[in-house]
Amino acid sequence: MYKIEQIRKDFPALADNLDGKPNIYLDTAASAQKPQCVIDKICRIYEHTYANVHRGTYALAEAITTEYENARQIIASFIGAKQDEIVFTRGATESLNLVASSYALNTLKEGDEILISEAEHHANLVPWQIVAQKTGAKLKIFKIADDGSYLQEEFEKALNPKVKIVAITAMSNVLGTIFPVKEMAKAAHKTGAKIVVDACQSIVHKKTDVMDSDCDFLCFSGHKLYGPTGIGVLYAKADILQSMPPYQTGGDMVDKVTYEKTTFAPPPARFEAGTPAAVQAIGLGEAVKYVSSIGFDDINTHEADLISYFNEKTAETKDLKIIGTAQNKGGVFAFDFNGIHPQDLSFVLSHEGVAIRIGHHCAEPLVNRMGYTSLARASFGLYTSKSDIDAFFAALNKAKHFF
Ligand code: ALA
Repeated sequence: MYKIEQIRKDFPALADNLDGKPNIYLDTAASAQKPQCVIDKICRIYEHTYANVHRGTYALAEAITTEYENARQIIASFIGAKQDEIVFTRGATESLNLVASSYALNTLKEGDEILISEAEHHANLVPWQIVAQKTGAKLKIFKIADDGSYLQEEFEKALNPKVKIVAITAMSNVLGTIFPVKEMAKAAHKTGAKIVVDACQSIVHKKTDVMDSDCDFLCFSGHKLYGPTGIGVLYAKADILQSMPPYQTGGDMVDKVTYEKTTFAPPPARFEAGTPAAVQAIGLGEAVKYVSSIGFDDINTHEADLISYFNEKTAETKDLKIIGTAQNKGGVFAFDFNGIHPQDLSFVLSHEGVAIRIGHHCAEPLVNRMGYTSLARASFGLYTSKSDIDAFFAALNKAKHFF
């Protein structure tokens, strides 16, 4: 039994009042609130265990290095990877840029193709545009349905032996659509492509298993997974990581350095130049432990319940149009309400304590493809309750009277 009131108590921000209104936080897809255990862990490290990692041999340096590498192991287990297949980055954006720069720029050539979906976040679109420009490869976009559903036939039609990289989101940050990563990886591998998975949204909503899905690269950010900002993860299969040159160079990523030449450390150190965000990585490890302690079975049941509640309320609300109604979707609802400009809507909702995101959601071509220049979006986390949804609909109905 999911104890939502108990879970909410783990997140101090949810108990705050904002100008006398409760904090109705429906912007978890942009960034999640943090549980007390993550906040405490970060404080404890800065208070008692802080030093640089991988450098000193004194007690504090050894303690924080152990915690940092433990965090790597916790995250590896969480997604079914091996410890040395986990590279810490500043976020998913950096992870994707790392793959684009270190892997794609060094392997693609003119005539090759990169295949992405219409539903990609800018972070999984712009780096591929740059790779295409620099290598002469062609960037191809496969279509999704008007309701936001994945179209297998469109994906398979676009696949051919020229496609060397398939880069897809596992769950759209705008439409909520869940993409069948395992089947897509199988199809991509059949024609000889590598698959890169943007798991920023999906990692929070469902169990991720890189062994089972057989993806070649997978990335996510810490801050959406109830962890700190400034930390992200890149998973890549060990043999691929081994074959990749460094992305950035400097301290801690080397084997031997002379004035004439440098040899590089094996992965993951090869890709972690400079002092890493060790405290944030440890905080992310704590967040992963927290999510695991609740478990995806319960998280999924709770989310499915919220989604059907949200859908019922939507059906009762005149002039509310959800953009992205795929059968298989997570708790992310982009919407148009009676043509009211999203910025005006957000302004009114904010006065009621309700936080939503508006704009193009860093997916401008997708929002345009759905027929809009800007959309409002409500998104759920594991702490979202039905009373949050009630408050959202009450605020929405209020907004109608203003415009
Ligand atoms: N990519 C994040 C979002 O969808 C920031 O809001």
